[in-house]
Amino acid sequence: MPRITFVERNGTSRQVEAPVGYSVLEVAHKHGVDIEGACEGSLACSTCHVIVDSAWFPKLAAPTEDEEDMLDLAFGLTATSRLGCQIVVTDALDGLVVKLPAGTRNAQG
Ligand code: FES
Repeated sequence: MPRITFVERNGTSRQVEAPVGYSVLEVAHKHGVDIEGACEGSLACSTCHVIVDSAWFPKLAAPTEDEEDMLDLAFGLTATSRLGCQIVVTDALDGLVVKLPAGTRNAQG
């Protein structure tokens, strides 16, 4: 099974098993990683924002326009930001590293 490493806000890395077909958000929730995902993957929030490791970013499927629009609203957007609910685990993503952003728009009030 593929594995994903989450780098948490305090810098701790956690490697977890990531079933193929799950989104990064679902994998995070399954393992108690603190990503909010307020709209549960329906592209109506930006609280599932993750920062993809720059080596991995080009290997992901390109974001849709809807995802880009939502990302524009994310707090602390970076060049390798994605929405966790839109990254679907495949065998090719075994070893993926994503970092949790310092905050989300909702958390910032
Ligand atoms: S959970 Fe809301 S856009 Fe990803």
